[in-house]
Amino acid sequence: MGTWGIGGKESPDYSRDGESVEALRYGLELGINLIDTAEFYGAGHSEELVGKAIKGFEREELFIVSKVWPTNFGYAKAKKAARASARRLGTYIDLYLLHWPGESWRKIEETLHALEELVDGGLIRYIGVSNFDLELLRRSQDAMRKYEIVANQVKYSLSDRWPETSGLLDYMKREGIALMAYTPLEKGSLARNPCLAEIGRKYGKTPAQVALNYLIWEENVVAIPKAGRKEHVEENAGAMGWRLSREDREKARRCL
Ligand SMILES: NC(=O)c1ccc[n+]([C@@H]2O[C@H](COP(=O)([O-])OP(=O)(O)OC[C@H]3O[C@@H](n4cnc5c(N)ncnc54)[C@H](OP(=O)(O)O)[C@@H]3O)[C@@H](O)[C@H]2O)c1
Repeated sequence: MGTWGIGGKESPDYSRDGESVEALRYGLELGINLIDTAEFYGAGHSEELVGKAIKGFEREELFIVSKVWPTNFGYAKAKKAARASARRLGTYIDLYLLHWPGESWRKIEETLHALEELVDGGLIRYIGVSNFDLELLRRSQDAMRKYEIVANQVKYSLSDRWPETSGLLDYMKREGIALMAYTPLEKGSLARNPCLAEIGRKYGKTPAQVALNYLIWEENVVAIPKAGRKEHVEENAGAMGWRLSREDREKARRCL
């Protein structure tokens, strides 16, 4: 489950807190176990809501992802930012990502090294990046001293298949790096695609479920749709547990 807009966008929005927490909890009850958030979302309020939503669930069964914003890159700042995120979440972070590459390579390197120390200290479990192209991903892999980059979160949907065409997806598959696909429903527009609806009919699935299944079909791809409404959460959970045939996957590509 993605959380951009849950708890606000660039600044906190408290007006729908109850509904947002309920939607996230509903997703966890349905068996979705990954939540993606960031210090940037709602200026930290999104993380606070995630912290509320996960209360009472078995922590080890969940996978919480958060991100450090480029203005907090650098050795000391990144450590401070991670501690603040963990405080808002009320727990350790399973995967901590560099949200965007930012301006300076030196800062990226320093941040990655700081994160390695945070793994040693137990505040975060794994390190990853976001919005890194193939070259930057390779460079960041080379910069690591002790641990590996385990994920790269990038925009990827049926109508924006650049990770396929750029070679990024293949590279990540070979390297065993998870690709976290953001904006996987193109903000909900893929849920209204009649061609995907036609493909889904055979499986008893909706266009949104086809669009998400297309992505998670690859073993190393995770999709993180955001849904503030419970009915959307439920629909998205139904993208798991079945598989489009290779031919139908090919057809889905031709829908867009
Ligand atoms: N790393 C990055 O730089 C980056 C950038 C962008 C996004 N992200 C992450 O990726 C997540 C997902 O991306 P996104 O929020 O940009 O776009 P998205 O998941 O493609 O679309 C979210 C929109 O689709 C609607 N929706 C969800 N499920 C639906 C369904 N089954 N049928 C119809 N509409 C549905 C939601 O409505 P309701 O909310 O009303 O249910 C919401 O308006 C973000 O929340 C964030 O966690 C990361």
